[in-house]
Amino acid sequence: MRFEHVLVVGAGQMGGGIAQVMAASGRRVSLHDAAPGAVERGLETMRRSLGKLAEKGASSPDEVIGQVEPVGDLVPADLMVEAVVEDAAVKEEVFRRADETLPAEAVLASNTSSIPISSLAAATGRPDRVIGMHFFNPVPVMALVEVVRGRETSDETAEEITELARELGKTPAVANDFPGFVSNRILMPFINEAVWALHEGVADADAIDTIAKLGFNHPLGPLALADLIGLDTCVAIMEVLRDGLSGERYEPCPLLREHVAAGRLGRKSGQGFYDYS
Ligand SMILES: NC(=O)c1ccc[n+]([C@@H]2O[C@H](COP(=O)([O-])OP(=O)(O)OC[C@H]3O[C@@H](n4cnc5c(N)ncnc54)[C@H](O)[C@@H]3O)[C@@H](O)[C@H]2O)c1
Repeated sequence: MRFEHVLVVGAGQMGGGIAQVMAASGRRVSLHDAAPGAVERGLETMRRSLGKLAEKGASSPDEVIGQVEPVGDLVPADLMVEAVVEDAAVKEEVFRRADETLPAEAVLASNTSSIPISSLAAATGRPDRVIGMHFFNPVPVMALVEVVRGRETSDETAEEITELARELGKTPAVANDFPGFVSNRILMPFINEAVWALHEGVADADAIDTIAKLGFNHPLGPLALADLIGLDTCVAIMEVLRDGLSGERYEPCPLLREHVAAGRLGRKSGQGFYDYS
């Protein structure tokens, strides 16, 4: 099996899900987060998700969780998947430290939604082994992995990660290293425009989401989806699009910023455009 031991850095919504699918595929996983209690919360979410999947015939939660080892720092592994907060400086520091800790042939992947892979690669001495492995939320359910090639990502690295995505039961699609790649270049301006519609009083949140769900046949409306992604992450992605594609139309809507400033981050904080308490 390729990448037998995977280090997942960041145990939030995405890191916990990535650890889960890696472990469910029979890989050994080391899970690290800088915040006290975050790995334990990640394992708890994983247990609930695995419980639901076990009812549908998947492996037992104990068996999968038994493959996941909490670690207090970065450890050597065959592959790192980084899923820390969407902040370039924080991610670059993780990549710099991973380059020191993981063996030279290991692949360093990022689950970033928008930050250039080439800038993360530049923090390491192995840019050919750095790549984007962009999962979707919730990771155990969503079928897509957007594989993002940095300027110097080698063909071999891209092939290995594409194959790994298939081994996890996902469908890979390859994109190049442009701001927001493909997924968020399309999705995030759509979400931001929905927030503008709410901000300007075009309609209330329920009506906006109902129009998208029934009119465009989307499973979730853009405001509910923003809550699922995390409003802090939405602002961070819009800022990358604004800076990278230099357009005023990419400026995050003030209402989005207002929610984030007030700590209303969406589902993960219990309140966003909707109340989850
Ligand atoms: N939420 C989504 O729908 C979604 C989808 C695809 C990709 N992403 C990307 O995944 C990444 C994580 O997003 P999330 O929704 O899981 O966020 P989150 O806020 O749920 O989790 C982020 C975690 O990173 C941890 N962290 C911060 N700095 C760290 C460090 N230096 N070392 C170790 N851990 C650190 C935090 O403690 C937190 O637990 C972001 O890059 C985001 O853009 C998110």
